[in-house]
Amino acid sequence: MCFRLGGKRLCPYDHTKWEEDPMKDVQDKNPAYFTAETCDLADFAQLCEQTLAPETVPNAARVEKNIPIYDGAALRDRLTDPADRRAIMAEWARNFRTGSGIVVISGGYADTTVIDEATQVYLDLIEAEREAHVGADHFAAGGANDRLWNSLQKLCLADSRLFARYFGNTLIDAACEAWLGPNYQMTAQVNLVHPGGKAQTAHRDYHLGFQTAETCARYPAHVHDLSPVMTLQAGIAHCDMSLASGPTKLLPFSQAYRPGYAAYRLPEFAEYFEANHVQLPLAKGDLLFFNPALFHAAGENKTTDVERFVNLMQIGSALGRTLENVDRYQMSLALYPVLLEGKTGLSEAEVDAAIACCAEGYPFPTNLDTDPPVGGLAPPSMADLMRQALDDGYSIDAFRAALDAQRERQGA
Ligand SMILES: [Fe+2]
Repeated sequence: MCFRLGGKRLCPYDHTKWEEDPMKDVQDKNPAYFTAETCDLADFAQLCEQTLAPETVPNAARVEKNIPIYDGAALRDRLTDPADRRAIMAEWARNFRTGSGIVVISGGYADTTVIDEATQVYLDLIEAEREAHVGADHFAAGGANDRLWNSLQKLCLADSRLFARYFGNTLIDAACEAWLGPNYQMTAQVNLVHPGGKAQTAHRDYHLGFQTAETCARYPAHVHDLSPVMTLQAGIAHCDMSLASGPTKLLPFSQAYRPGYAAYRLPEFAEYFEANHVQLPLAKGDLLFFNPALFHAAGENKTTDVERFVNLMQIGSALGRTLENVDRYQMSLALYPVLLEGKTGLSEAEVDAAIACCAEGYPFPTNLDTDPPVGGLAPPSMADLMRQALDDGYSIDAFRAALDAQRERQGA
């Protein structure tokens, strides 16, 4: 039997001798958790300094800055052939996963008047929200941009005929299916960046990209591998976007860096991103898709006259659902008085475990207009609220009122 201490094992056959733990190497290369300590800039740089081989993207019209660019007009016809569609989707999936992580389709709309019409509806909605004082962007400084949350539903309800023409797009459909499979869940958010709008810092996106570093580090490494396959990130250009207007800054191949959710906030990784990212000018109607684990950031709008208008899409996997419908609201109302009474004989950790099984622990999906992530990346979850209420000794009625207010904010 060997005793382990500090990554070494003490060998019972020679009590004076310390040996290297034979498991240590395996653990270092394949840690159970990703933290700042498991990140290595040299590994990251080696990954990101690859060059995309054109033969891996044979259906692309060209490759620029490691980004394969496809001709929408040519692909639209080819997608009507099932075998051709499948071959194109396989190529995209491979590039999202192990290639450069990005796909651009130029001319994503045969007729860009649908884009112009949608732009007008969205501008009207933004104006209406401004007058009603809703819809602030919590990811940017006030006034630098306009954000229209849930632009999917808002367009559908404002003009369903236009919605059909806008989202009835076989190129978008094929790209979503390529990465997520069928039955994906579409969401969209308009980001309109005014002249002078500042750049974002490098980040990854939903799911784990929208968690604090501390929360992220609690998810085991295999969940970090899972997060990128649960969503696809995309954007529809609503205007011509020159480099000066600040199209999205992208770091090809960075999506494949396994500890990346722990790395993107580290200063040396942020500096590497700033020194090595690429940007592509886009034309109205172009489509951009990328793996949500790709390091990226909105660029600075250095123009004095371009209103950079993108409709972002975050598309979710069909598999992000539970097996059963569970009424966690009613369960939480039933459990709260028992926990508040404090006579369960449970330790603090056991109370925490009971809450985890009872209340909803995840704050999404929500209504970002009314339930913004104030002071963080994610709004509080039902479980957060329950723990807070217990800490602060809310009465049962006060807890019910707080839960109701939360449901109202979430639009549940
Ligand atoms: Fe992002």
